[in-house]
This record gives sequence, structure tokens and C-alpha cells, in this order.
Amino acid sequence: MAKPIYVLNGPNLNLLGTREPDIYGRETLEEVRRRCESRAKALGRTVEFRQTNHEGVLVDWLQEARESACAVVLNPGAYGHTSVAILDAIKSISVPVVECHLSNPAQRESFRHHSYVSLAAAGVVCGFGAASYELAVEAAAGLAR
Ligand code: DQA
Repeated sequence: MAKPIYVLNGPNLNLLGTREPDIYGRETLEEVRRRCESRAKALGRTVEFRQTNHEGVLVDWLQEARESACAVVLNPGAYGHTSVAILDAIKSISVPVVECHLSNPAQRESFRHHSYVSLAAAGVVCGFGAASYELAVEAAAGLAR
């Protein structure tokens, strides 16, 4: 059985659909999950889709991905701007990680312009709303090990 692409979501992304819809859109995380699954299926891949509000859980899942995933799509939410622990976790695994954001952080507040995750990610997809996830799944499938 081929390993899945892990699609990992950080804090507050469980509120998609109602959370600042002018920035993040009106699609729910469940709808984003379905987009990822169907794009992965078209590419002959499967997806393991998860969300947590807890930084350490993201670290645990990235460590798990070392053995269990062929690639990772990671929307770290605000932890992308703050978390050296998540950066270290990505550097500790050989599985490729594609950073993904709904919004384009470069067009937003200056504290969103720096991403620790970008320092270790294979690449970044941002600014396309829920479609960012589909593009990131496609990139991850291309990098899959
Ligand atoms: C986000 C961008 C982050 O700056 C923010 O903290 C989020 C969502 C995005 O998907 O656009 O929670 O990662």
C-alpha cells in the first residue's frame, strides 16, 4: 500500500468557513479536505488530513510522517511565524514538506512576512484560497518519496 500525503493543519483552521471569511474564504475545512482527497485521487495518491490547535501535536505528526507519509502539505497557521520546534521537526525528517497558506502572508501584516517553515520547506503555495491546498497536494505528489 503506497504511503499517503499527510495534509496537516495548524491552529484556528478548524474554524474555516466562519473565520475572517474576507481573508480565508467561506469554504469549511471539511470542504478543503474533500478538495485534497479528489486532487490526490486524480494523481493516484491518498491523503491523510488532520487539524490541531496544538504546536506539539504538529511536531508529533511531522515525526510520524518520517515513516508513514510519502510527502507532507503543511498549513502551520500562525505557528509558521513563531515555531522553531516545527522548523526543527521538518529538518529532522527526509520527507518533503510543502508549505501551504490560503492567504498571501506577504500582502498582510509585517509579522506574517517571516515563516520559520519556509526555511525548511521544499516550496510554498499561498494566496489562492482553498485552491492553494490542491496546488500544494499536486506539488507534494510530484516530490513524493
Ligand atoms: C494562514 C496565514 C497565517 O498567517 C495565519 O496565522 C493563519 C492562516 C493561511 O492559511 O493563510 O492562521 O496560514
